[in-house]
Amino acid sequence: MHKILMVCLGNICRSPLAEGILKSKVNSDSVFVDSAGTAAYHIGKLPDERSIEVANKYGIDITKQRARKFVVKDFDEFDIIFAMDDSNYQNILSLVRNNDDEQKVRMILNEIHPAKNLSVPDPYYGGNQGFENVYKMLDEACDVIASNLS
Ligand code: 4NP
Repeated sequence: MHKILMVCLGNICRSPLAEGILKSKVNSDSVFVDSAGTAAYHIGKLPDERSIEVANKYGIDITKQRARKFVVKDFDEFDIIFAMDDSNYQNILSLVRNNDDEQKVRMILNEIHPAKNLSVPDPYYGGNQGFENVYKMLDEACDVIASNLS
């Protein structure tokens, strides 16, 4: 079983989309996908309405998801931890206990733009276009992730 964790700040905009998109591209018998946020602001909440809408537009239901906070134990549970942006990446790295933990953490857009360390822009304070843009980036990245897992 591959275990993949998607991480952003609030776990309501970007990482729920990344979770939903990757789940739609892999077999759930062999790949477990989850998401979390580095901040506690939105624990227990549904994804942002704008993420729900853009996912829905592409046939993906993310309304079963509830926000949770990233915890150190996630380093034990998951094989790969994808950060959406630079600040998520630094926040996760600040919690690593050893080299094994550190090796699990990656920037998700490096899947499509290797070693560039590009960030998925935080769409929270923008309009719907930001969510569409985020969706497209994550869809491309998840295509690569899914093909590398199969
Ligand atoms: P996310 O977006 O990290 O993609 O879930 C955000 C959600 C909430 C906040 C910031 C970013 N916030 O400041 O509450």
